[in-house]
Amino acid sequence: MFSSNIAYSSFFLSTISLTLLIYQSRAQLNSTFYDTTCPNASSIVRGVIQQALQSDVRNGASLLRLHFHDCFVNGCDGSILLDNSANIKSEKDAGPNTNSTRGFNVVDNIKTALENSCPGIVSCADILALAAEASVSLQGGPSWKVLLGRRDSLTANQAGANSSIPSPFESLSNITSKFNAVGLNTNDLVALSGAHTFGRAQCRIISSRLYNFSGTGNPDPTLNSSYLTTLQQTCPQSGSGFNVANLDPTTPNIFDNNYFSNLQNNQGLLPSDQELFSTTGAPTISIVNTFSSNQTAFFQSFVQSMINMGNISPLTGSNGEIRSDCKKVNGS
Ligand code: HEM
Ligand SMILES: *[C@@H]1O[C@H](CO)[C@@H](O)[C@H](O)[C@H]1NC(C)=O
Ligand SMILES: *[C@@H]1O[C@H](CO)[C@@H](O)[C@H](O)[C@H]1NC(C)=O
Ligand SMILES: *[C@@H]1O[C@H](CO)[C@@H](O)[C@H](O)[C@H]1NC(C)=O
Ligand SMILES: *[C@@H]1O[C@H](CO)[C@@H](O)[C@H](O)[C@H]1NC(C)=O
Ligand SMILES: *[C@@H]1O[C@H](CO)[C@@H](O)[C@H](O)[C@H]1NC(C)=O
Ligand SMILES: *[C@@H]1O[C@H](CO)[C@@H](O)[C@H](O)[C@H]1NC(C)=O
Ligand SMILES: *[C@@H]1O[C@H](CO)[C@@H](O)[C@H](O)[C@H]1NC(C)=O
Ligand SMILES: *[C@@H]1O[C@H](CO)[C@@H](O)[C@H](O)[C@H]1NC(C)=O
Repeated sequence: MFSSNIAYSSFFLSTISLTLLIYQSRAQLNSTFYDTTCPNASSIVRGVIQQALQSDVRNGASLLRLHFHDCFVNGCDGSILLDNSANIKSEKDAGPNTNSTRGFNVVDNIKTALENSCPGIVSCADILALAAEASVSLQGGPSWKVLLGRRDSLTANQAGANSSIPSPFESLSNITSKFNAVGLNTNDLVALSGAHTFGRAQCRIISSRLYNFSGTGNPDPTLNSSYLTTLQQTCPQSGSGFNVANLDPTTPNIFDNNYFSNLQNNQGLLPSDQELFSTTGAPTISIVNTFSSNQTAFFQSFVQSMINMGNISPLTGSNGEIRSDCKKVNGS
């Protein structure tokens, strides 16, 4: 009885390890993927981004957001980078992306630099993952070893981009569901929302909060009143909706934990930001408090959550391809 239990357990365990082995040999990313084929990949990406930040400091934030919008739609497969063509309905024209996502020219410059050094080796999906890390670390945030080995999709999913990427007007529970749907939990949601420590949002997205909240004819009463005054100056009612406001009013271009103290001060720019702290009884509140008081804790969680997000359904092995132009499927 006892020994047959052992036999059973060891059979069971080796079945698990075999399954893991097969799974890993098929799908596991690792940080050394380009070590022999393109050893300078990471520094090449970093160099192009350093230049891009000099011409526009916002580029780092824009690149980080591209990785997020890529990974939430069919996994991290570079699908967001494909332009419209006979067979592609571009994700760039999806609601969350249109007139909003940016940084594509920087991605193209990175791709060109990589193709010059090691043609046909580094995928566009991995470029987005490397660019996200370089952007965060170059602007004061943590650095980490990026897991690599993703391949590029042959398709885009515009309808998926419309339905899977959270909207800033959704409830916390709806946004949490969208994170859960791609295997990310509440801790990931709060940590990754900390990406709004830099970058901008367009006035058109927040103008209802400033002038006519939920059709009341008044501003959102929960918005910090001095912050409201500042925002109304940045985003005048008669101004262009394409003007931008800083997502983090305190240190707009630095990757730090001030995003979380902003939320404690009712200075979350997007409704989806403020909800993390202001939804009664929400499990996100204590996480915001921890990250606000301890930047190390935020950085550690952010790194782990970026790795979790970067692991969403990558194409690996011989699936997909390595695009030579991130905007097009090869041969099209
Ligand atoms: C939790 C749900 C999220 C919502 C509802 C949301 C929504 C938004 C919106 C509406 C903007 C402004 C876009 C514009 O005005 O053009 C924005 C900007 C940005 N988002 Fe998010 N976001 C979320 C999560 C994330 C995550 C997970 C990341 C990355 C890890 C991220 C990174 C950024 C960055 C860096 C910007 C600034 C981009 C720039 O300046 O070009 N966001 N987000
Ligand atoms: C990284 O992944 C690739 C592809 O799966 C594999 O060939 C390589 O051996 C892996 N490297 C390490 C150190 O695991
Ligand atoms: C690649 O990196 C090595 C060492 O990190 C450096 O000496 C070399 O100049 C780099 N080559 C290119 C093409 O960037
Ligand atoms: C995008 O912006 C342009 C103006 O720059 C505008 O004409 C167009 O309608 C906008 N598209 C969408 C889908 O909002
Ligand atoms: C996605 O949303 C955009 C903008 O709201 C719309 O124009 C487009 O038709 C939608 N695409 C699909 C496939 O649903
Ligand atoms: C939440 O999602 C449900 C189901 O998709 C939708 O009916 C509802 O309008 C959403 N609520 C908010 C506030 O986003
Ligand atoms: C506010 O929005 C509501 C509903 O969209 C609208 O009926 C009302 O006229 C607006 N009020 C002002 C002052 O713009
Ligand atoms: C508004 O923000 C200021 C910091 O700019 C802060 O001192 C104050 O406590 C905030 N007020 C509320 C109600 O959160
Ligand atoms: C801050 O967080 C780090 C990482 O979780 C932890 O090791 C450290 O003890 C925390 N510091 C304080 C003062 O709580």
